[in-house]
Amino acid sequence: MTLLLRVVLVGILLTLAADAGDVPRPNIILIVADDLGYGDIGCFGNTTIHTPHLDKLATQGVKLTHNIAADTLCTPSRAAFLTGRYPIRSGMASSFFMRAFLFTASASGLPTNETTVAEVAKEAGYKTAFLGKWHQGWSTDRSDPEHHHPLNQGFDYFYGTPLTNMPDFDDLGVSWIMHAAPHFPFQLLTTFLLVLISVCCLVRVGYVNVWLAMLFVLVTGVLCGGTGFALLNMKLLNSFMFRNYDLVEQPIHLASVTRKLVAESGEWLQARHQDHAPFLLILSWLHMHTALATDPQFTNRSAHGRYGDAVEEMDWGVGQVMDMLDRYGMSDNTFVYFTSDHGAAPKHKDKLGRTVGGFNGPFSGAKTEGSTEGSFRVPGIIRWPAGLAGGQVINEPVSLMDIFPTVADLLHVPDVSAGQVIDGASLVPLLTGQETVSPHQFLFHYCQDSVHAVRYRPRTGSTVWKLMLREPDRNNKKPAKGCDAALHLDPPKLYDLTSDPTATTPLDLQQHAQTVAVMLAGLKEHQASIEPVPSQFTLTRLMWQPWKQPCCNFPYCSCEDSKFHA
Ligand SMILES: *[C@@H]1O[C@H](CO)[C@@H](O)[C@H](O)[C@H]1NC(C)=O
Ligand SMILES: *[C@@H]1O[C@H](CO)[C@@H](O)[C@H](O)[C@H]1NC(C)=O
Ligand SMILES: *[C@@H]1O[C@H](CO)[C@@H](O)[C@H](O)[C@H]1NC(C)=O
Repeated sequence: MTLLLRVVLVGILLTLAADAGDVPRPNIILIVADDLGYGDIGCFGNTTIHTPHLDKLATQGVKLTHNIAADTLCTPSRAAFLTGRYPIRSGMASSFFMRAFLFTASASGLPTNETTVAEVAKEAGYKTAFLGKWHQGWSTDRSDPEHHHPLNQGFDYFYGTPLTNMPDFDDLGVSWIMHAAPHFPFQLLTTFLLVLISVCCLVRVGYVNVWLAMLFVLVTGVLCGGTGFALLNMKLLNSFMFRNYDLVEQPIHLASVTRKLVAESGEWLQARHQDHAPFLLILSWLHMHTALATDPQFTNRSAHGRYGDAVEEMDWGVGQVMDMLDRYGMSDNTFVYFTSDHGAAPKHKDKLGRTVGGFNGPFSGAKTEGSTEGSFRVPGIIRWPAGLAGGQVINEPVSLMDIFPTVADLLHVPDVSAGQVIDGASLVPLLTGQETVSPHQFLFHYCQDSVHAVRYRPRTGSTVWKLMLREPDRNNKKPAKGCDAALHLDPPKLYDLTSDPTATTPLDLQQHAQTVAVMLAGLKEHQASIEPVPSQFTLTRLMWQPWKQPCCNFPYCSCEDSKFHA
């Protein structure tokens, strides 16, 4: 069948259903991989990694080859995904190099007054669950006015890790900070001693009152000691799985975590099969973030070391969940979306020097960068047999932020915005072929709280333009200092991504002066729409707060989940 014919048929079916007044609202499963690159799976061109289940999903559904994350690090990208808004609108875009939450016990988190996709689904009568990596702030204190917890953001059930997987969750016993900066404890001690000596001098010459000086020294000591302790003990302080409000496993047994997420998915889906409730499930894998560990069944199996093993295990997990949908007869009317939170870090090495980063296919750049294509362009797959023709490939720019309004559209929830700016747009018209052009005229590529590039898709023609305002400084050999280290491009660089997808040949600006002017005007308009909100990335919010520290059985802080280790 030609695509056109299929599109027309689906259109007729949807119209008939609408006439009958009962367009069946689909169930929703949103699957998010961590740090998976554009070129890491078979259906996106990888010939040496085996991802048969994702490949099958793409064949049965729609492949999104121009799928863009709103940020290039976990915390902000996922905030945008859950809310359909650029992270800067919710205070989830940092203004300095710390751009992701580092401690479970801190005050930062996705503000609870933001509306998440789960709240939209709940309003429509759906049951909701979040399984896996959360990384949007954590608090188990229900009386906390800023109670950051999935159950306070629209989810009925949570099983997963509050923060993220981290390099220190491995069993090597060397902390990442000592690996990256071996003199770190010495530096902290020197800082403290310098403060001590300076304060003593100031007291001696009579500049500072003794009590005040002692207080200052005490505070500095506690801050230096606390920071040192926290950074040297990331595993003790952050490696755990929660089931709702209960800490059930500490530390995380990484090799079995994928299997457990699959088991939890199965149990929850079975319950929906029994109670016939429509549902939204977010399945947020811990793979492929380091430390990488897989079940023995997947270890040493792929052609690409630990990273490849993790991709193949995750693919297996997706397959298992799809099998359960089949078993319960729910495949046909479940809208399944698969994505990665942002691009891979191809050069990333673990503490033993092994390459453990993914592959961004033809696109240059890596996770954390602001304007490179590989940092935010990710694989995207949608399957919904009851509503969408399979075997489609959509190469129009779409965003992870579109999922929020798309779900609202599918669930017939009107006016989700409640007066707030929603940056995403429903993909339903594009997916059903009603529209052929991206709903986005502009997409803005953020790094921290500044825009490093603008993407422009005019309503007519077929060209997608990209204007780079800043780019990574490839000659800077020093460790990245965050987005501020990126070069300012003056003049900016313009690319035609349609004829030059990998952005290799900048165009003559004079010849395209009008296009550039439109793009800069679009950026200006976007920036004018940003309203100041409290930042979640202030030092006092981000820092480790010992009084909030979870531990399952102090002082041991070590337990196994009786559900899985009975
Ligand atoms: C497949 O992915 C692996 C792991 O990221 C990468 O090293 C390899 O180059 C990719 N292979 C192809 C053919 O794309
Ligand atoms: C995987 O390979 C490594 C290195 O050869 C070996 O030490 C390890 O035992 C293997 N693991 C499994 C589960 O096969
Ligand atoms: C949430 O609360 C903050 C702080 O009061 C406010 O600035 C922001 O606009 C609110 N956001 C929404 C979506 O209502």
